[in-house]
Amino acid sequence: MRNLTGLVVSGSGVFVPPQTISNEEIVASFNTYVQRTNHAHEAEIAAGTKKALLESSCAFIVKASGIKNRYVLDKTGILDPEVMCPRIPERPDGELSVMAEMAVAAARDAMAAAGKTPSGIDGVICSCAVLQRAYPAMAIEIQGALGITGFAFDMSVGCASATYAIHIAKGLIESGGARAILVCNPEILTGHANFRERDSHFLFGDACTAIIIERAETAQGVNVWEIVSSKLKAQFSNNIRNNFGFLNRCAPEGAGLPDKLFVQQGRKVFKEVLPLVSHFMTEHLAENGLTAVDIKRLWLHQANINMNLFLAHKVFGRDPTPDEAPNIIDRYANTSSAGAIIAFNQYSADLAEGDIGVLCTFGAGYSAGSVILKKLS
Ligand SMILES: CC(C)(COP(=O)(O)OP(=O)(O)OC[C@H]1O[C@@H](n2cnc3c(N)ncnc32)[C@H](O)[C@@H]1OP(=O)(O)O)[C@@H](O)C(=O)NCCC(=O)NCCS
Repeated sequence: MRNLTGLVVSGSGVFVPPQTISNEEIVASFNTYVQRTNHAHEAEIAAGTKKALLESSCAFIVKASGIKNRYVLDKTGILDPEVMCPRIPERPDGELSVMAEMAVAAARDAMAAAGKTPSGIDGVICSCAVLQRAYPAMAIEIQGALGITGFAFDMSVGCASATYAIHIAKGLIESGGARAILVCNPEILTGHANFRERDSHFLFGDACTAIIIERAETAQGVNVWEIVSSKLKAQFSNNIRNNFGFLNRCAPEGAGLPDKLFVQQGRKVFKEVLPLVSHFMTEHLAENGLTAVDIKRLWLHQANINMNLFLAHKVFGRDPTPDEAPNIIDRYANTSSAGAIIAFNQYSADLAEGDIGVLCTFGAGYSAGSVILKKLS
């Protein structure tokens, strides 16, 4: 194996909101919406001028995605067939914003796990798929709330955001720009999910993760992982897209259309992302002189259980055991950038000193990031 970087992930934390929605609940809400809409358009449907909407099913959701449950900020709004959107009231500018609040909670856990105080951290990166606002940077609000000095900035690379941020944080510390960096991944994905769209209404949940990156010599945590190597990849695609943005008001004809929410060509994503990511992961391992037998665990982006089984099979050359590629998607659904870090947070303490694991995230862009980790303590 190549020389290690001397940098570590020294702590991680997870925040989820207290409310959950089961598949049964989300399907009941969706099917009520379908029945009401079809009833309202009975005449056009009978005349063949409009297509009847089709109902969703729990069996499909579990088989196609592995999802059984999701944590959400507002259950009532999502499940109301007349609303089908979380209701998250605006807060006064002087109050901590909802996304920063999630990040602060996850960050406090990560800092406690790493034994880190605000004075030991020089930078905050908020990296997620869906940012609450353009500015001031969410990271600067999080930094202020935690009492961290130094610098802070936001970045967004879809579901790959967490590994991209680790790569950037690593570079900043290596170049002497910081002693330690806090990376936060707050995701309020229910805010951009289209709960009226059968193909994707079940996909997303809300969550936030945080990790601390620092030099090995300053790390005090009990579950410390050295960064062996990190690598990024991107290749343009429109198959996962969201056209929301400031230019929407300059084109009022497009206001409120579904393309301002999450849109994906799920089948195409499957077909194109799997070869891209499996090649990327195996190439990254080979560059570091590692083969399947060296890898104890994969912490993969949690978008789809079938995708993860496929990727793990490609890496290991056989079916993985549940222990080798743990899935949390059944309980959390797709939480974008947070998913792989939740898996890392829950399934890393049990491994032994010297064990190697790979954190790999991928998604819209297309974008992918791989971080090879070796357990130090
Ligand atoms: C979204 C996803 C779960 C859909 O699974 P899929 O197996 O591709 O499903 P398809 O869209 O091909 O639909 C298969 C069938 O189920 C039906 N179906 C779709 N949604 C349904 C639902 N909610 N309930 C019941 N049936 C449904 C379709 O109509 C289709 O029926 P047909 O075969 O009679 O035409 C899957 O494509 C996926 O996870 N893709 C990648 C996701 C991803 O990683 N995205 C990255 C975002 S970070």
